[in-house]
Amino acid sequence: MKLNRYKKLFVTASIIASACPNLLAQTTDATAPVAITKEASPNKAGNLAPTPPMGWNTWNTFQTNIDEPLLKGMVDAYVSTGMRDAGYKYFVLDDGWMTMERDKNGDLVADPKKFPNGMKAFADYVHSKGLKFGIYNCAGSKTCAGYPGSRGHEYQDARLYASYGVDFLKYDWCNTDSLNAREAYITMSQALKASGREITFSLCEWGNHQPWLWAGGVGELYRTTGDITASFDKDKHNGTWTALSVMSIVDKQPAIAKYNGPNHWNDPDMLEVGNGMSFNEDKAHFSLWCMLAAPLAAGNDLRKMSPQTQSILTNKAAIAIDQDALGIAASRIYQADSLEVWAKPLANNEVAVCFLNRSTSVKQVTYNWNDHPVKNEANNIDIDFAKASYRLHDIWVNKDLGTTKKEFKQTLVGHSVIVVRLTKN
Ligand code: GLA
Repeated sequence: MKLNRYKKLFVTASIIASACPNLLAQTTDATAPVAITKEASPNKAGNLAPTPPMGWNTWNTFQTNIDEPLLKGMVDAYVSTGMRDAGYKYFVLDDGWMTMERDKNGDLVADPKKFPNGMKAFADYVHSKGLKFGIYNCAGSKTCAGYPGSRGHEYQDARLYASYGVDFLKYDWCNTDSLNAREAYITMSQALKASGREITFSLCEWGNHQPWLWAGGVGELYRTTGDITASFDKDKHNGTWTALSVMSIVDKQPAIAKYNGPNHWNDPDMLEVGNGMSFNEDKAHFSLWCMLAAPLAAGNDLRKMSPQTQSILTNKAAIAIDQDALGIAASRIYQADSLEVWAKPLANNEVAVCFLNRSTSVKQVTYNWNDHPVKNEANNIDIDFAKASYRLHDIWVNKDLGTTKKEFKQTLVGHSVIVVRLTKN
C-alpha cells in the first residue's frame, strides 16, 4: 500500500522557505527558545554513528500494517537469523504506529489496537534482545500516512520518545507547507538533545534541500533521494510521485560522495534486498550500498528470509566495507558500455573495488589496474597501482584473485557485481 502522495510540491516549498527563513521559530515548542541563525553551530554533536547505522525498518514490507505480535516475531527473527550478530542494531517502527489524534494533553498515542501493551513495553522487548529501538514521525502537521506530525510539538514528542526508551528517530518531510527544512530539522535535533536521551537522528527530507550541505551536526544520517522501490533499473510512477530504482538512486550519489563521513551519512534509502529483485540484483544493490558507506536498513520480512537473502544481508566482508572506519563513499572511477567500476578507499591502505554490469547481457571485463589510480583528495589518498602491488580478494566468492600486477579479466552476467578487497602486498 502506498499512501497519499504529497510529493513534489517541494520546489515551491523551498522557494517559500528560503524567502521566509524565520518561519521556523513558530514551530519550536515554547520550552526552549533558541535563536537560530544561518551559522547555527552543530547542536547535536556526539559520536552516535561513527560508522553507518545498521538496522531494520518496517516500511518497505509492511507500510502501516504493523502490530506488536508481528513485530515481536520480527525482533525474534532479527536475532535468530544472525542479523544482530552481523552488526545490525536498530529496530525501527516507521509510519503508522500511532492513533490518528493526539490525546487531551497533546501527546502522541501508540495505537492501542496495534500496541495493546503500549510503546514502552514494546521498546523494552526490543532492548531485552540487545537491540536499539527506533521510531518515526514527521516535521509537518501530519506524517506521510496522515498520522499526527510533530510540527509545534517537537519538544513534547522528543520527551515522549525518551520516556519510551527510543534510541533513533526517523523524521520525515510530508505536509510541511512553507517550513524551512534546515531550521525544522534543527528544531527537532535540539528537542532530542533536550530530552536527555541519546537519540540518533535520521533526517528524511529526500534530498530536496541538499541536506549534505547542512545536516552534519543536526543529525547522523540524511536521506539523499526519494523513496526506493524493489527494482534494479525501472522507476515506478505512482501518479503524483515516482519511486526510484536502485540504479536511479546510485546515479545520484557520485556528486555528493564527498559530503559523506562519520556521524553525517548520505542515506540513499532503505534496502530492498529480499523484496523481489533477483539474487544478483540484490547482491549488486547491497554491494553498492556498502561501497557508498550507506546506512544499512534492511526492509524485508526477516521471518521468511530465504537463505540467499540471508547470505547477502549478513555477509561479513561486505558489511566490513560499509563499516570501514574512514567512512569514505566510493567514487565511480570508470564507466563504459554499461560497465562501471567503483572504488572506496579503506583504512590501513586497503581499497574496495566494485565492478558493476548494468546491462542484462553478459560482459567481459578486462581491466588494467595501472590505468586507474584511486584518489581521494579530502583524505589525502593517492593509490597508483603502477607503483605498488595489491592482492585481490573476491568478497562474495571468498576467493583470492591474484594481484593488481596482472590484468583483471572476469565475466559478469547481467545486473551483477564482482567486489574485490585490495590489500597491499
Ligand atoms: C516517506 C518516506 C518513507 C516512509 C514513508 C512513510 O515516503 O520517505 O521512507 O517513511 O514516508 O509514510
